[in-house]
This record gives sequence, structure tokens and C-alpha cells, in this order.
Amino acid sequence: MASTSILNLRQVELTYPSRDNVVQALADISINVTAGEFICIVGPSGCGKTSLLKIIAGFVQPSDGEVLMDGRRITEPAADRGMVFQQPALYPWLNVAENVAFGLRMRGLSGRERVKRVDTMLDLVGLHDFGRRAPYELSGGMQQRAAIARVLINEPRVMLMDEPFGALDALTREHMQEELLKIWRATHTTIILITHSVEEAIYLGTRTLVMSPRPGRIVADIPTPFSREAGESRAIKSRADFIAIRENVLAYIWRPSAQQPA
Ligand SMILES: Nc1ncnc2c1ncn2[C@@H]1O[C@H](COP(=O)(O)OP(=O)(O)OP(=O)(O)O)[C@@H](O)[C@H]1O
Ligand SMILES: [Mg+2]
Repeated sequence: MASTSILNLRQVELTYPSRDNVVQALADISINVTAGEFICIVGPSGCGKTSLLKIIAGFVQPSDGEVLMDGRRITEPAADRGMVFQQPALYPWLNVAENVAFGLRMRGLSGRERVKRVDTMLDLVGLHDFGRRAPYELSGGMQQRAAIARVLINEPRVMLMDEPFGALDALTREHMQEELLKIWRATHTTIILITHSVEEAIYLGTRTLVMSPRPGRIVADIPTPFSREAGESRAIKSRADFIAIRENVLAYIWRPSAQQPA
């Protein structure tokens, strides 16, 4: 398959104004994203990961550099860059199916077409018996799956995920990792996911980017091919090649200024 570049960040800088000085959040960030990639980003707390996703989403404008989507400059949020937050952002007054249908309603699709697409999407995320439930009747993992469905129904060019499983218990988190890989394999959606878990990044991503402490820079860009393999997750995570890459990524996190891990 030909690889098409869909998202380009070129020398992006971000400075937040503050009361008596300025906070430089991001420095010289250049990333080239190819269609179908699953990019994971790890880095210390406060290094600018969320800021980077907000720039790609179009919520925040870079202070310098540029962000191009399909060759066009990003200036505002749009449904082609859907965002999944750490806490599932569902409308409590709508049921699950209505939450998932929200983007389609905004686009003016007919009721019949909406029902069809929502059904397909609820199937994909394993919630097809829960469309009529209210969000508060769902577990945290199920709510997050509904939030993912609500983004995916818009067929985004890129799905942005900011620590989507950070609020879940360890077992649910592992289950959600499998669900997300299943969805990624079925839809070929390009994903950029932020996580605090190095293991999660390596397991899910086709590529893992490591950021330095603030101002965040990309200090490593490491191919992590495991998500292209089918296999039992525990077996993959305990393999020698998996552990070697995990140690490599950790070395960059502990020695962020080094070009090569010691
Ligand atoms: N709206 C804002 N105004 C001013 N400073 C901000 C704003 N948003 C973030 N910052 C600052 O920018 C830096 C990066 O914040 P950001 O939330 O992007 O980090 P992060 O890597 O996502 O952190 P965490 O891992 O804790 O979620 C921090 O020092 C933060 O205080
Ligand atoms: Mg953050």
C-alpha cells in the first residue's frame, strides 16, 4: 500500500503568555504522520503532550511553525480530527446512541441513515445492547468506548486520544487496549495517542515518540511494530524484543537530553 502523508508538523513552537513571564511549552516539534499509522507519545508530566494534541485538534494555535493536514494549514477544530479525552465527554442528557449520533445529526443525515450508522458503530465498540442506556448506567470502560464511537462515526482522518485509559483500572485498561487495536485494524483510522504508560505505547503504537521535559521536544522516534502482529497480549509484552524496546524508550525518558541512551 502506498503511504500517504496526511499530517505534518513543522518546527512547531508554543509559548503560553502568563501574568509576569511566558511559559514555553513546546520547542521545535516536527512530526510527519502517514495514513494508517498509530503514533503513541510518552513524556514526563507537564512536558506539553496535551498542548501538542490541542494544536493538532485546532483548539490552540502554535506560536511559530505550522501544522498541515492534507497540505492545508489547520486553523480551527473540525470533525476530521476527533479528540478522545481522559474522562469520557458524553452528554448526560442523551442516551448512548444519541451521543454517538451527535455528529451525524449536526451534519444533517436522515434519521434512518443515522440509525444504521450508529448500529454499526455500537457493534464495532461492543456496545450494541447499550444504545438506549444513559451514560451514567455504563462502566468507565464502556463510557470510553462510547466516546470513541462518537468520534469514529465522523470517519475522522485522525483520532487524537489524550490518556484515554488513564482513569481505568488495570484489567479494564488491558481490555480496552485490545478493543482499540481491534478498532484500528478494522477501520485503518490514523491514531495519535498520549499515554503515561511506556508499555501501553509500545504495545499499541506502530511508532513511539518520546518527549523531553518542558519545553517539550521530540527526543526519540522509535518503531514499535507489535500492533501489526496478531497474538496474545501477555505473550507479546513478555517477549525479549518487546522488553528491549521498552528499556530503550525508558532510557530516553530518564536521560532526555541524551541523543543516544546510555
Ligand atoms: N492554557 C494554558 N495557559 C498557560 N499555561 C498552560 C496552559 N496549558 C498548559 N500550560 C502549561 O504548559 C505546560 C504543558 O502543559 P500540558 O498540559 O500540555 O502538559 P502535559 O504533558 O499534557 O502534562 P500531563 O502529563 O500532566 O497531562 C505546563 O507547564 C502547563 O502548566
Ligand atoms: Mg496532559
